[in-house]
Amino acid sequence: TTTYRIALIPGDGIGTEVLPPACAVLDAVGARHGLQFSYDEFDWSCQRYLAEGAMMPADGLEQIRHHDSILLGAVGWPGVPDHVSLWGLLIPIRRDFRQYINLRPIKVLDGVPSPLRPEILKDGVDFVVVRENVEGEYSEIGGRLNRGFPEEMAVQEAVFTRAGVTRVLDYAFDLAGQRRGVLTSATKSNGIVHTMPFWDQLVAERSAHHPGVRWDQEHIDALAAKVVLDPARFDVIVGSNLFGDILSDLAAAIAGSIGTAPAANLNPEREFPSMFEPVHGSAPDIAGQGVANPLGAIWCASMMLDHLGHPEAGAEVLQAAFGVLAETSVRTRDLGGTATTAEFTREVLSRVGAHSVV
Ligand code: NAD
Ligand code: IPM
Ligand code: MN
Repeated sequence: TTTYRIALIPGDGIGTEVLPPACAVLDAVGARHGLQFSYDEFDWSCQRYLAEGAMMPADGLEQIRHHDSILLGAVGWPGVPDHVSLWGLLIPIRRDFRQYINLRPIKVLDGVPSPLRPEILKDGVDFVVVRENVEGEYSEIGGRLNRGFPEEMAVQEAVFTRAGVTRVLDYAFDLAGQRRGVLTSATKSNGIVHTMPFWDQLVAERSAHHPGVRWDQEHIDALAAKVVLDPARFDVIVGSNLFGDILSDLAAAIAGSIGTAPAANLNPEREFPSMFEPVHGSAPDIAGQGVANPLGAIWCASMMLDHLGHPEAGAEVLQAAFGVLAETSVRTRDLGGTATTAEFTREVLSRVGAHSVV
């Protein structure tokens, strides 16, 4: 048996409701593959901030640096400004652990109601957003000045470094090479946004190192429209931190619900733990009711298994979860059903090992 140490950070709102299902599925699938998970739970959250004045302890990152992976639910709660909760926990983990790849797969699943018309979906939708995760528009350079005065202003410099852009592009080209061989770069290169011609130049440079991949680029505004009108054409989309963020919620919406979408914040060099978290947030509007869709978090468990080197176990997680949607009417409210978080999870667990792995 191999044992992995997992740092669990449920966080706020439905973050605390979707992580237990992910762990239950991990335990069940792990047992079939000789894998054991030992969880250390951390109460880092807005509640902690309100009680103790900080989202996490001063040595928080030290406490989780040597774990094999991090599973995070969601951070953010009304009453604590988002910039406080996010800069106090989520963003430091992504940056200090050099999780510069944010991988966000999108599939329109059998049995899940997409808002798109059937003819748009007939070729199947299966693509991955590769989001740059530590620089770009989310930079620490800037701030707010002259609060409350007529001169009040806010500035933020977008930071694109050759090294930072190159590594995410190489990752995306490699991933496209392992998939259908098509890469789309999200850009805004019509010269208004100064950083984007530089991004485009690096895309063209790196493409020479990945001759097997066909690539093109689309302006982010037009790309957003094409993701809605013709999602089947995309294989891998690479984008900056902000473009990737927006595209991933858009893509999750066409796949039926943001509650289904997973994310892997990867440190590809494995110097630090990677972090797996659903794309959605703490959903204050439905928190506490036990009705959140746990699929995004369960899919995260699958991505974590892939990252830990157990893709067959990862595939089994998805087969069980997707099987529930394809073959039963059990689904949560966001997908038009009436099942609770626990009922959907129970159905997934009942299918673990029920099918042979394809
Ligand atoms: P949100 O994702 O929390 O909610 C958007 C909408 O989607 C809501 O109507 C919600 O009910 C629904 N929804 C989200 N996840 C769902 C699920 N699993 N099942 C069913 N429905 C689901 O986004 P928001 O409202 O913009 O943000 C709320 C808080 O979460 C904010 O404080 C924000 O900063 C934070 N946030 C955190 C993360 C993160 O920790 N990674 C991500 C996004 C937002
Ligand atoms: C996400 C979230 C975060 C982001 C927020 C909460 C900072 O929207 O993970 O997509 O923008 O990265
Ligand atoms: Mn987002």
